[in-house]
Amino acid sequence: MPSLPKTLTAAMADTVEQVEAAIDVLLPRADLVEARLFDAMRYGCLGGGKRLRPFLVMESARMFGVNPACALRAAAAVEFIHCYSLIHDDLPAMDDSELRRGRKTVHVQFDEATAILAGDGLLTQAFEILADPETHEDPQVRCKLVAALAKAAGPRGMVGGQMLDLIAETTSFDIGAITRLQRMKTGDMIAFSACAGAILGRAGAPQHHALQAYAHDLGLAFQIADDLLDVEGVQDEVGKPLGRDDVAGKATFVSILGVERARDQARRLANQAAMHLDIFGERAEMLRQVAQFVVERRS
Ligand code: IPE
Ligand code: IPE
Ligand code: MG
Ligand code: MG
Ligand code: MG
Repeated sequence: MPSLPKTLTAAMADTVEQVEAAIDVLLPRADLVEARLFDAMRYGCLGGGKRLRPFLVMESARMFGVNPACALRAAAAVEFIHCYSLIHDDLPAMDDSELRRGRKTVHVQFDEATAILAGDGLLTQAFEILADPETHEDPQVRCKLVAALAKAAGPRGMVGGQMLDLIAETTSFDIGAITRLQRMKTGDMIAFSACAGAILGRAGAPQHHALQAYAHDLGLAFQIADDLLDVEGVQDEVGKPLGRDDVAGKATFVSILGVERARDQARRLANQAAMHLDIFGERAEMLRQVAQFVVERRS
């Protein structure tokens, strides 16, 4: 059994470094006429970000003894999709944001058309990475990864959630509808990340289900924390413009419950998430700590 990392901060910093190095190798760099696209993909993927989703992939994979080099490829693929979703989320037609991770957004640094293509490039290359035998020797495992990520990122997951998020600007959503929106928009990609290790490690159903239950609560807690940061975060720490949800008239947990009750709800969900990990004992200590981190974070 590999040894447990010492602290969450150190373990997350390790993942940031490893995943940046992996992304750097995986992204095209060729000196071709279309190099502007590669530059925009690199700009949108490298230099910032908590790399929470890759961390969940790496930690869940570690629990099942997966080869870290294979897990790192899956972690990079998830981050490609996440970064594509951020590039498109920031476009003028969506959240119209000029700052991300403390830097200009991709469409500001390059231009809108290039930002759209950079997102498309990251989205498609993510699946190329997962389908490659270097990610796992068993084609069935690769196929499961591809199918699960496609579902999490697609119309019944993140993309569908983004559509609901736009509709939430002009339609009044109750708490049930917002919960569904948040789970699709953010929760499903987080759930895939936490379950990727179980897929790579061919874990049994009870383990897989426990991780799914953990991630289900974690994902919602994570998005409530994002909405809280939009209201009460510090821009220099968060690295993106704040107060936008309110200006857009977006229904969120915070707009419906208010700050205090939304924070209580996020903490309750984080505690509940950690309880689903009981079957893993000490092996899941990092994932338990991530649940606390997700709701107490300042960026
Ligand atoms: C921001 O995600 C977008 C949401 C899904 C709320 P993160 O807070 O994980 O952003 P980075 O990757 O750390 O920049
Ligand atoms: C975006 O949610 C979620 C994605 C799927 C990209 P937000 O619009 O709240 O994310 P931020 O606040 O811009 O990071
Ligand atoms: Mg958005
Ligand atoms: Mg946004
Ligand atoms: Mg937000």
